[in-house]
Amino acid sequence: MTKVTCLNPIAKVGLERFGAGYQLDAPLEEAQLALVRSADMHAMTAPAGLLAVARAGAGVNNIPLDALAKQGTVVFNTPGANANGVKELVLAGMLLAARDVVGGVEWVRANQADPDIAKDTEKAKKQFAGGEIQGKRLGIIGLGHIGVKVANAALALGMEVWAYTLPEGDGTIPGLAQEVHLLEGPDEIYETCDYITLHLPLNDATRQMINGAVFAKMKPGTVLLNFSRDKLVDDEALARAMEKGLVRRYVSDFPNPAVVHLPGALVIPHLGASTEESEDNCACMAVDQLKAFLEEGT
Ligand code: MLT
Repeated sequence: MTKVTCLNPIAKVGLERFGAGYQLDAPLEEAQLALVRSADMHAMTAPAGLLAVARAGAGVNNIPLDALAKQGTVVFNTPGANANGVKELVLAGMLLAARDVVGGVEWVRANQADPDIAKDTEKAKKQFAGGEIQGKRLGIIGLGHIGVKVANAALALGMEVWAYTLPEGDGTIPGLAQEVHLLEGPDEIYETCDYITLHLPLNDATRQMINGAVFAKMKPGTVLLNFSRDKLVDDEALARAMEKGLVRRYVSDFPNPAVVHLPGALVIPHLGASTEESEDNCACMAVDQLKAFLEEGT
């Protein structure tokens, strides 16, 4: 019996793929295989007998890669498996920033007891008037699975899409619509885009890459979206940029206490991949990888 531990709840449709020969409720200390979503494995002691870990998600910041490599534990992740879920929330974030839906909903809640609420909507129409995203320029930094999907969807919504990504392989980006303007550096994005969305892993090269010097290049009223990793953005520089009006809205999928209170911040509790479909896809891909590793050595 191969002992498997689930360090977070993992979708049933994925776990069912293990079939006979796997015990799915092993404690970490006894496990040969581990499945993890958001639990921080840096805070755990992985047993020497742990053969492989699969992260049901794309980022691996919660996995102690070096320590596991040292003891010979192989690590998998599931790039692309939740890309559609994240893409859809990025689009929602962009629309929520364009139209003050959140302000409008709060206004209705606060005024629901007012018998004249229907008349007062005239005031609300002015207070919460927004803009349209059609015709606006979107800048995408990072064209992995999610960045490409966001680019193509934004084109379909009538946006002009400019993108910058680190060159990889032969430079082709699978699935990217040819109408996307590919740039050789990010500066034109910072300087000219109405909306900027980040789709990058967090590492030493990208940590706090959106800093004071970058904010200084942005045009007033920029909407910045971060559904990648919180620490890509320098919080203090963000607060200053929002105060100066350079950033009108910061839509973030990370409930960072230094950011939540900033006027104009729209903060979501890391829900990008929290759809049934994305959770199922990640679970299936993660389990398939563990099984292939164990049964076929791949
Ligand atoms: C990811 O890295 O893909 C996300 O953090 C997934 C998640 O929410 O678990």
